[in-house]
Amino acid sequence: MRMVDIIEKKRDNHTLKKDEIDFFIQGYTKGDIPDYQISSLMMAIYFNGMNDAEATHLTEAILNSGDTIDLSSIDGIKVDKHSTGGVGDKTTLVLGPLVAACGAKFAKLSGRGLGHTGGTLDKLESIAGFNISLDNESFIKQVNDLNIAVAGQTSSLAPADKLLYALRDVTGTVPSIPLIAASIMSKKLASGADVIVLDVKIGEGAFMKTLEDARELSRIMVKIGKNFNKKIIAFITDMSEPLGFAVGNKLEVVEAIQTLQGNGPKDLHKLCKEIGAYLIHHAGLTANVADARDMIEEKINNLEASDKFKAMVESQDGTFPDLNDYIKTNGIIAVKSESSGYVKALNALDIGLAAMRLGAGRATKDDTIDPDVGIVLNKKVGDKVEKDEVLAYIYNNKDDITAEIKTVLEAFRITEEFQEEKPLIIEIIE
Ligand code: URA
Repeated sequence: MRMVDIIEKKRDNHTLKKDEIDFFIQGYTKGDIPDYQISSLMMAIYFNGMNDAEATHLTEAILNSGDTIDLSSIDGIKVDKHSTGGVGDKTTLVLGPLVAACGAKFAKLSGRGLGHTGGTLDKLESIAGFNISLDNESFIKQVNDLNIAVAGQTSSLAPADKLLYALRDVTGTVPSIPLIAASIMSKKLASGADVIVLDVKIGEGAFMKTLEDARELSRIMVKIGKNFNKKIIAFITDMSEPLGFAVGNKLEVVEAIQTLQGNGPKDLHKLCKEIGAYLIHHAGLTANVADARDMIEEKINNLEASDKFKAMVESQDGTFPDLNDYIKTNGIIAVKSESSGYVKALNALDIGLAAMRLGAGRATKDDTIDPDVGIVLNKKVGDKVEKDEVLAYIYNNKDDITAEIKTVLEAFRITEEFQEEKPLIIEIIE
């Protein structure tokens, strides 16, 4: 088989066969096929797409390029969720302990954040001592003992994805729906769960900007998951404004704990409850989704969910935070409204970028994170605002944050007419 023939076939909009897809993934992972040929193929896929069978074969080839996690020694149904990334998205920190408290097994491998979106590992590592590098044996033991463990993805998981992603990043071929679907699903399938919820974010702060693209990405990923006999569903959710109020690592940990204790923002609570109810029901723990929602409320009210978070933190060598003495910054600046009215829009991307520049995120892979800094919103879309009322608080450690204050202020669009809150869950694709 010759790589040039595969490139020409896709260039001319024909369908690639499984053995051709296996050939280029294996060849590229081994270093036998050069970057320029794979770049050319990625561009042909970007323009001509892939059908569902090709996307499934691609997922399988990437999955088989490295290790898979064998969770068979965990008793019970393993559940997982994946978010395509957003601003203030601390869902894993809330959802994991919630479903674990309900009896599901949450064996989660997470990643770091880059750019304006934060990563679960960075949030967990803001907790003093928290160890994200569990070996397989300790990971499985902890899930068997506590129903939950969250650890970092190792480089041996789907190595072809790392190579391909790095190449796509510099060749303008990231935004191809079948390539994104295969990239995400290969990692999800390699981590071995039985029931999966995909949280596909849409809006300013997200990867997918339009509902059509979010639908298509969700449809393909659900199809791939079903081809691998998984119970899988995609929620398309709003990311035009940040999720919850807190953006920044320790600030988000605090908000996650408050949500687990029943005092969190209502959008975050709702999303975790809906995703959690699907996972719990499909793990066979309740007769229907409505009962699963009730079980979730019960585990929040009786504090079993927040106890589960504490147990996980301690089992992974962390110190459970004292919420009254946790965030240490040089200053907290209040950003005040220059007019009265209603919040019409709150640009998640701008808030994410401002938080990143304060030090809460990374502009490049090698940047270090300041865990204490970030932004806590005081108003969200639909809220009434008076002139000089606080829109947001900036937790900072820098000498000069004039630019970040301006960005946060400009992220809010205040108008005179009343603005309804936006629906959080836009569509569900099964
Ligand atoms: N996230 C991934 O893991 N892969 C992509 O290709 C895009 C987003």
